Amino acid sequence: MQSNPDLVVIGAGAAGLMCALTAGYAGKRVLVLDHASKAGKKILMSGGGRCNFTHLASTPAHFFSRNPAFCISALKRYRPEHFVELVERHGVEYVEKAPGQLFCADSSKEILRVLLTECDWAGVELHLKTRVEAIERVGEGMRLTTSLGILDTGAVVVATGGLSIPTLGASGFGYDIARQFGLEVTATRAALVPFTLTSQWKARAEALAGVSTEVAVRCRNGHYREPMLFTHRGLSGPAMLQISSHWQPGDSLAIDLLPATDSVAALAAARGETPKRRLSSWLGERLPRRLAQALVEWHGGDGVLAERSNADLETWAARLHDWRIKPAGTEGWRTAEVTLGGIDTRALSSKTFEVQGLPQLRFIGEVLDVTGELGGHNFQWAWASGVACGLAL
Ligand code: FDA
Repeated sequence: MQSNPDLVVIGAGAAGLMCALTAGYAGKRVLVLDHASKAGKKILMSGGGRCNFTHLASTPAHFFSRNPAFCISALKRYRPEHFVELVERHGVEYVEKAPGQLFCADSSKEILRVLLTECDWAGVELHLKTRVEAIERVGEGMRLTTSLGILDTGAVVVATGGLSIPTLGASGFGYDIARQFGLEVTATRAALVPFTLTSQWKARAEALAGVSTEVAVRCRNGHYREPMLFTHRGLSGPAMLQISSHWQPGDSLAIDLLPATDSVAALAAARGETPKRRLSSWLGERLPRRLAQALVEWHGGDGVLAERSNADLETWAARLHDWRIKPAGTEGWRTAEVTLGGIDTRALSSKTFEVQGLPQLRFIGEVLDVTGELGGHNFQWAWASGVACGLAL
């Protein structure tokens, strides 16, 4: 192990590796420590195993934070096309699965391979299964007590990520260090996470598990039009993951099951043109069949359109366009993709990520109170904050 490295990065995830390789190329002697048995476990799991590694239209507007201006500088300096250029240099093939969302064509392993290769070329030393027991300021530097022994270094970068999925190595360690040095940590909660439902709705969702349909969903000031998926526990899919960042316990979701249709007009027209047509058949042309069938069962049965009054059609339109449902909760840290909240960025420099008044200590990535929407924004933040910090060391 290097003695007295210029820099110790705690956390071999997306942000930590990016920072380490950037500082390594700038001539710093860099050591990366991680308590996990493997680097980049979340990268490997991400995007269903194909890592949605950036979003081409990522801007600060796609992030939540108590201090919304903090992310602007880093995101401006390291943009999605910079990361695309890096993966292209390593021959990684990728696809744009949804507008702007870039995924590996093959496997997330490719992204981790790029980062580890670059770290190797930049002379970065990586130690896994290593515990950091204490951090203290000693003179102009920092001293770490680790399971490898005592380490004296010029600077420490904390890149320990958020709380989601503890089995992937997540811990609250970064927040503990922040508090030790007098920084505030804003309230944290699981986000980009599926919803759970209570008894009647849970049973209904369970019966429809696997059914997906495009919806428009609203909650507080969040509004998304994306697919929703019924699951054994409740509701998931991109629309639900996105809205979970706005949802608070006790809130209802307003779901439009047919966002592209004016149902009152379309049902009235169908009643005139095809009066013998059954409602379930009309619905089944616009929604997945199992969902169409379930809707008529939940709301008093099927029947031909000719039997439906104008008031009845309006009631149906309200059910389709403004389905109100109150989730029991979310699946929590076990399946959440990210942590909303984290270290309050008002005590940090947005250019260098150093703690004001203590440049030997820096925080980057998801451990900060900067959380992106679904679609590659969270990795873009990890890359951008890692590069900004690595260049400033
Ligand atoms: P990250 O969590 O990557 O790394 C933190 C590192 O610190 C880990 O290696 C951990 O072991 C280590 N660590 C923690 N505590 C420690 C301690 N006490 N001592 C030493 N080491 C410690 N985002 C996106 O943009 N596109 C996507 O497709 C997905 N998909 C996705 C799927 C799933 C299942 C999850 C859970 C998350 C995503 N994300 C995502 C989010 C994305 O993975 C996340 O925002 C970034 O990995 C954050 O990067 P960081 O480097 O900040 O933390």
